[in-house]
Amino acid sequence: MTVTTSASAAGLAEFIDASPSPFHVCATVAAELDGAGYTRLSETEAWAGAAAGRHYVVRGGSIIAWNAESSSDASRFRIVGGHTDSPNLRVKQHPDRSSAGLATVALEPYGGAWLNSWLDRDLGLSGRLAYDDAGTVAFKLVRINEPILRVPQLAIHLSEDRKGVTLNPQRHVDAIRGVGDADPLLDYVADHVGINPTAVLGWELMTHDVAPSQIIGAAGDLLSAPRLDNQGTCYAGLRALLDAEPSGAVTMLALFDHEEVGSGSERGASSDFLVTVCERILAATGGNRDDFLRTMAASICVSGDMAHATHPNYSDRHEPSHHIAVNGGPVLKVNQNLRYASDAIGEAEFALACRDAEVPLQRYIHRADLPCGSTIGPLTATRTGLLTVDVGAPQLAMHSARELMGTDDVPMYSAALAAFLRR
Ligand code: CO
Repeated sequence: MTVTTSASAAGLAEFIDASPSPFHVCATVAAELDGAGYTRLSETEAWAGAAAGRHYVVRGGSIIAWNAESSSDASRFRIVGGHTDSPNLRVKQHPDRSSAGLATVALEPYGGAWLNSWLDRDLGLSGRLAYDDAGTVAFKLVRINEPILRVPQLAIHLSEDRKGVTLNPQRHVDAIRGVGDADPLLDYVADHVGINPTAVLGWELMTHDVAPSQIIGAAGDLLSAPRLDNQGTCYAGLRALLDAEPSGAVTMLALFDHEEVGSGSERGASSDFLVTVCERILAATGGNRDDFLRTMAASICVSGDMAHATHPNYSDRHEPSHHIAVNGGPVLKVNQNLRYASDAIGEAEFALACRDAEVPLQRYIHRADLPCGSTIGPLTATRTGLLTVDVGAPQLAMHSARELMGTDDVPMYSAALAAFLRR
């Protein structure tokens, strides 16, 4: 196996630790793009130069970047898609509470957070604050990477049968902030980012485990980290975009917020973000509507999201003869009921990319009697009409506050995505 890639498990760990929220994923990706000669465009301005060169655009917690060597590349797009958000516990609008002599913060789950995994962890806070900047709305990113919050588990002696506690998302996930009274949480956050607390007008704030990502295992062949779903793809896709030499196509990375809650927002995968960016690139070449539609028909999107590696303690939960090995290579995801968008042509395109990258390909289907998750793939396919194939890298403990994957899968996944982009 000869994998030529700039991606590594250590690189992914660094990426994740810098990116506790979707807004930070965009900032981390943007900083890497800036360093690689990409320029940021604004959706409110004309895109005269968008037809050639390297550019990106940010819409809230979503980002799209593309590389067109020349304006003649714009006859087809090769796109890697993914999502920037991960399940977590988020701050309510009136968060300050007090109970049993403790100052608490009212939290609620975002997406399919596996609630038990959020207990007994030292939690920081991140997201963004919108504030009044002399009459106009401005915002600041917030990243408090200190252990300011904790949701303690109930003592086993206080449980009814010592067998386990059922967690209610309303009553059991508020976090302790300290003993006695505390200043309002929003004042504390505003102070942290240097804004007058009275200027704060809105916020999207969420918690994260502050323990750094770590390479673990006796042989150092595993990566323990939060948010592998789906920053594993954000990172692998970014490295792939930067590594892939385009060959007659516009190579593109499209990362969307809000996948974990259904993708229905101005910046989610069901929005017009991807399709308008593609249309505006075409328009910048002087192309007309017909040129745009012909280009979309010639284009392809790989929807990257993490895949379920076979769990050693629950191997019966996996479809027989479709077991997915950790460090076994990228995963092609197929679902007859279109929870994944893959079809035979898309499958073949990704299989060829893995062959080009000289990495093994694993094929996944979900057990027919268990509910299958989904991805941005079916949604972007519906919105754009793009041929789409769903793929991922193997991981365990999906949607836990702390997930696990193989270190070798990081470069193999990124190399396959790079090979896909350059085909
Ligand atoms: Co996901």
